[in-house]
Amino acid sequence: TTWDIVVVGSANSDYLIRGPKLPLPGETIQGETFLAAPGGKGANQAVAAARLGARVAFVARIGKDERGQALMANLQAQGVDTSYVVQDEQAATGVALIMVGQGGEKQILTAPGANHQLAVVDVEAAQAAIASTKVVLAQLEAPLEVVQAAFRLGREAGARTVLDPAPAVPLANELLQEVDLIRPNSSEAEVITGVKVTDPDSARQAAGILLQRGVGAVAMQAGDAGNLLIWPEGECWLPKVPVQSIDATGAGDAFAAAIAVALAENQPWSEAGRFANAAAAIATTGFGAQTALPTRSAIMSLLATT
Ligand code: RIB
Ligand code: NA
Repeated sequence: TTWDIVVVGSANSDYLIRGPKLPLPGETIQGETFLAAPGGKGANQAVAAARLGARVAFVARIGKDERGQALMANLQAQGVDTSYVVQDEQAATGVALIMVGQGGEKQILTAPGANHQLAVVDVEAAQAAIASTKVVLAQLEAPLEVVQAAFRLGREAGARTVLDPAPAVPLANELLQEVDLIRPNSSEAEVITGVKVTDPDSARQAAGILLQRGVGAVAMQAGDAGNLLIWPEGECWLPKVPVQSIDATGAGDAFAAAIAVALAENQPWSEAGRFANAAAAIATTGFGAQTALPTRSAIMSLLATT
């Protein structure tokens, strides 16, 4: 089998509550809707890419528990290959508690569990898939050395590598040099580069640091206004697409997955950026991480009308 995307990363059970606003520290607030749903940045990105028509294999660890079974069943139902999803003997399936405010803004606290047991041996077990994929896509809910190993194997076999550096940690040049495209949001960009990113100018400055440290290209969220995409020969500004946003959970995952799919299809950079920007906008229109992940035709009709 050959693959378009191999996703290396996390799978979580998400428990979401939507309320009138996010609670402050020490505060209790009565919310409205509750949703238990599959999540985890890795799983969300795998499902997002599969929904866009890509052939996707997922490298991850879940627990030998009921929640893990449910996540596995969901991945399979969504068309993601789970041959490299390992059931950990000890650790529990990851959990995320997600609070969503009125404007769709969110706060997430996770218990990584089995995600943190994902190991270099798991990546090595998936070597055949990684050697025959166009893109390796990873996030940072798995250990850094696992991401590094996956990117190195992918690069050696001629794949392109895409990193969604979430949740943010400072990153070594050793890893950044293995990255063809990095996709930080504004706060992740600040953690990695030290530059406070609020607008296109500060995004360009932070992106410049990442390029200088060895990444091939940068798709950076530039505050609320939109995304800045910079590649070796050019750049483009991707203004926020106006939609009825109710929950930003999963929007970053939709962006990362969509741009990875576009790169696997050899779309030109600016087209890939527009595609991903629209995918992220659509993902904010549904409650939950995977609920509103778009199809290709949904992206195309949004792009045609904006
Ligand atoms: O990006 C959204 C995801 O972050 C959620 O699904 C949650 O599980 C956390 O990993
Ligand atoms: Na959402």
